[in-house]
Amino acid sequence: MDTAHDQVIAGLDIGSSKVATVLGRKTPDGVEILGVGECPTEGMRKGAVVNVDATVKSIRQSVTEAERMTGLNVESVYVGISGPLIKSFNSHAAISVKNEREVTNADFTRVLEIARTVELPNDREILHVLTQEFIVDDMAGIKDPRGMTGIRLDARVHVVTNDVPGARNLLRCVEKAALGVESLVLAPLASAEAVLTAEEREVGVALMDFGGGTVEMVIFYDGALRHTYVLPLGGGNITSDVAIGLKLPNADAEALKVSSGCAMIQKVRRDELVELPGVGGRQPRPLRRQHLSEIVEPRAEEIFALMRKEILRSGFEDSLGAGVVLTGGGALLDGLPELGERVFRLPVRRGGPIGIGGLVEVVNSPAYSTAVGLVIYGARAAETVVEQQEETPSAGIINRVKKYLSEFF
Ligand SMILES: Nc1ncnc2c1ncn2[C@@H]1O[C@H](COP(=O)(O)OP(=O)(O)OP(=O)(O)O)[C@@H](O)[C@H]1O
Ligand SMILES: [Mg+2]
Repeated sequence: MDTAHDQVIAGLDIGSSKVATVLGRKTPDGVEILGVGECPTEGMRKGAVVNVDATVKSIRQSVTEAERMTGLNVESVYVGISGPLIKSFNSHAAISVKNEREVTNADFTRVLEIARTVELPNDREILHVLTQEFIVDDMAGIKDPRGMTGIRLDARVHVVTNDVPGARNLLRCVEKAALGVESLVLAPLASAEAVLTAEEREVGVALMDFGGGTVEMVIFYDGALRHTYVLPLGGGNITSDVAIGLKLPNADAEALKVSSGCAMIQKVRRDELVELPGVGGRQPRPLRRQHLSEIVEPRAEEIFALMRKEILRSGFEDSLGAGVVLTGGGALLDGLPELGERVFRLPVRRGGPIGIGGLVEVVNSPAYSTAVGLVIYGARAAETVVEQQEETPSAGIINRVKKYLSEFF
């Protein structure tokens, strides 16, 4: 059954602002984008389902749009998961090498299995176990220890966990939208797949996915994931501030922020004017763009200050040779990279999906980073050996969810 259909990979990003579906295919050169569908949603808040019916409707609509665009039929999807309840930590394990001092596949599997055996409360489960490095005797920094000689094998891993009820709600929405789930994937990890270069991950980088309800961060160093964080604030908070500050309905505030908002007051000329929409039949009025910026900048600055605090907490502030990369729809805000450089005292760039082929222009926005990343993740998962399939509490309802023992290897 080696048809084109078999190779179609669907990424489903159920965000706080919109649901995006990206369809792609694995090719010998990487990933080819085939199509996209998008639908705004009111069903999610800060990464959590707050209205099942609204979420299901948006999922269905975005998937149907992607199906119409491509003429393909989507049966199962890679689903992004996020929210402030995502927690992660480092873990490690050591074993003595069994056979004739050569590290075998069995040793490799065993040490990872021990590293992932951690006590979790009942309402939490493991989402990812990502290998950072192996140590064979005294030699550290080994990416794949198999075939090496030694008597002791250490594995260092990063364990990402999610809350069971949150994942269950999300999976139920996908199931109700008549879709199977290939895998749940940490949303910013998917974004990182689409946006970061291997070099950035090597020299150290903090990727921030600036969404509507959250800013998600993953920190990479030495090619491996080191730290994960989700802040429950996002572009929606900037919009609310504009709405309150200028006494506008939310939709008008959103449109004004997108068209004219700037996160750096300094960047705006004193004489620049924008149009303030009239409310309740009144005429639109001119507004100094600096005044708008006086509302936008403090909130953006507060969000970045909280992210900087988390970078300091992670201990990786001196290990970010590639600085900060901003993605997500919120990253499109004018002046945001400049503000980031001021707050983080690091180089900051804006990033969208890279390293893909096909209909690149239809997903050429930071808002699609997660959905495109899910497709890239799916293409990679297809070639990763499935070491172990397991039942997780949340996935009990959908038996198609697969888990990989060792990811991004
Ligand atoms: N051109 C733009 N300028 C400024 N902000 C923008 C622009 N385009 C989109 N945004 C903002 O980006 C946010 C939505 O980003 P995105 O689509 O990545 O969110 P999401 O993935 O649905 O949400 P989350 O990741 O928080 O669950 C909104 O706050 C929106 O106002
Ligand atoms: Mg998002």
